[in-house]
Amino acid sequence: MRILGVESSCDETAAAVVEDGRRVLSNVVSSQIAVHRPFGGVVPELASRKHVEAILYVVEAALEEAECSMNDIDAIAVTRGPGLIGSLIVGISAAKAIAYALEKPLIDVNHLEGHIHAAFLDSDLPNAPFVCLVASGGHTALYYSKSLDQPPEFLGGTLDDAAGEAFDKVAKLLGLGYPGGVVIDQLSEQGNPTAIDFPRVYLGKDSLDFSFSGLKTAVVNFVRTHSPLTYRVEDLVASFQEAVVDVLVAKTVLAANMKGVKNVAVVGGVAANRRLRHKFEEKAIDNRWKLYVPPIHLCTDNAVMIAAAGYGVWKRKGFTRDILTLDAVSRWY
Ligand code: KG4
Ligand code: ZN
Repeated sequence: MRILGVESSCDETAAAVVEDGRRVLSNVVSSQIAVHRPFGGVVPELASRKHVEAILYVVEAALEEAECSMNDIDAIAVTRGPGLIGSLIVGISAAKAIAYALEKPLIDVNHLEGHIHAAFLDSDLPNAPFVCLVASGGHTALYYSKSLDQPPEFLGGTLDDAAGEAFDKVAKLLGLGYPGGVVIDQLSEQGNPTAIDFPRVYLGKDSLDFSFSGLKTAVVNFVRTHSPLTYRVEDLVASFQEAVVDVLVAKTVLAANMKGVKNVAVVGGVAANRRLRHKFEEKAIDNRWKLYVPPIHLCTDNAVMIAAAGYGVWKRKGFTRDILTLDAVSRWY
């Protein structure tokens, strides 16, 4: 089954064609990074407008790259949520219009389930339940999945900032640019991660929740109380990054142990972080895990993951029944 995926939940307008949930025929992403950079974060109204401008071109480009026409597409999978409502509506409206006009079935997909699918495109499917850490700009949560085609079970999530949001806010504070995760990842390569002992918030021995706002405040306080001549910004960001990574890794180890699983996936924009990937690789060896991490270009938002997840959703519950009344949802599991 050939699925056209459409994604517009945040600041990337994306479309892709994927066959049987695994064979990637095209992957087109139009990024709005330059639009939001001056603001140090995503401006929802601007994001919606840019999606409107880009969506049809992106869909056309994805078909062209896949060397097919709409006639060769069996279904359209679209992100229904969670995300920015104005942004989601653009992708959903386009998908609904195409599906209605060309009489193609529609599949509505959860964005986080999409991120999870990105980890399994290049590898064997897990033959047992797995625990998954989703860490992105909008979400930081742990899930337990019995199989890839079933909806993931929520185990715990952030009580305040998402991990990616913390990266973005710290980068903004330091005037380093946007998106913060990428800049901090690069700068940290020249920094000492043990230079500053920033707090790691664990919220209790058995908690699978996260909190990053205290860490962000600690960075703010550090910058306010220290002259820039007394520290290197590379050390500061490397130390901040280390604190985020330590918590993400520790909570994932805890979740895997609590659930007794040996298959672990790490996905979302923050999964592109080199230090995070390295530390998870070490943990996988220590704990004898099979670790699933997407290639870097499929960690951040894309439509390949939506088309792949759409195939799983279709196998689980079929097509979306009422195309015309499908709505966007800002919060979902
Ligand atoms: O998954 P994503 O594209 O969008 C959401 O669904 O939110 O994630 C974007 C987030 C941003 O906060 C960005 O700073 C972060 O992922 N990010 C990174 C890296 N690349 C992107 N964070 C840390 N290290 C990176 N290399
Ligand atoms: Zn995302």
